[in-house]
Amino acid sequence: MDCVSNIGDGRLSPSGFSATISGLLGSQAVDKKFSYKSSQPFVHGYCLDVPEPSALSTAQSYRITAVCLGNICRSPIAEIILVDRFERAGLAQLVQVDSAGTGDWHVGGRADRRTIAVLRRHGYDIDHSPRQITADWFAGINLLLAMDSTNFRDLQRMAPSSSVKSVHMSRSHLRMLRSFDPVLSALPAPHPELDLPDPYYGTPEDFELVLALVERAADGVVDFVRQDLAL
Ligand code: 4NP
Repeated sequence: MDCVSNIGDGRLSPSGFSATISGLLGSQAVDKKFSYKSSQPFVHGYCLDVPEPSALSTAQSYRITAVCLGNICRSPIAEIILVDRFERAGLAQLVQVDSAGTGDWHVGGRADRRTIAVLRRHGYDIDHSPRQITADWFAGINLLLAMDSTNFRDLQRMAPSSSVKSVHMSRSHLRMLRSFDPVLSALPAPHPELDLPDPYYGTPEDFELVLALVERAADGVVDFVRQDLAL
C-alpha cells in the first residue's frame, strides 16, 4: 500500500473525515486537503500517519438515536431490537445505537417494567438508563428515529439549523421509525399512520404491539444504513 507520511489538521465528524496530507504517495509528492463523506465511508487502502485504528474506528461509528417522549417504553425497545439487528448483520462495529426522550421526567430512573418484561419475553436483554435529548446531541448523529409524529416535530424544532431541519438532509437524517416498515414506506413523515402507539397508559398487550411494530421496521433501518454507508 502507498503511504503518505504526514497528516495535519485532521478532523473526524459524523459526516466524514477531512485532513491535509503531505509526503509521498508512491513516487508522487502529495500536499493536499482531502475529505471523505459518510456516504462514501473511509476508503480503506490509504495508509495514514493518523490516530490509532481503534480511535479511528470508534470515531467513525454511524450513530443512530431512537427518540420517544419518556425514553422508558418505545425508544428503549427500538434501541435493543436495532442493536440486535445490526449485530446479526455483522455491522455492530460500525453502527452505534442508543435512545433518548424529549422529556426529562424519567432521567435517572430505569426502563418501564413492562418494557423490560416484553423484551425478556422475546429473548432480548436490557440494561437501560433513561436520558433526555438535548440540542448538542444533534452534532454527532447520523440518523434520528422518531417514534411518533410529536417526537418528529419536537426534534425538528430542537435541531440546530445547520443539522436536521427536514426529513432528509445531507448531514444527518430525521425519520420516523415506522417509515422503514415496508408496507408504510410511501407515507410522508410526519404522518399519524407512522406513529408507534404510546403504550405508557396501556396494557402488556400494547407493549407486545410496540415490539412487533418495531421488529417490522428494523430490517429496513439496517438496509438504509447500509446504503448510507455505501456498503
Ligand atoms: P415512551 O412512553 O415515550 O414510549 O417512553 C412514555 C413514558 C412516560 C410518559 C409518557 C409516555 N410520561 O408521561 O411520563
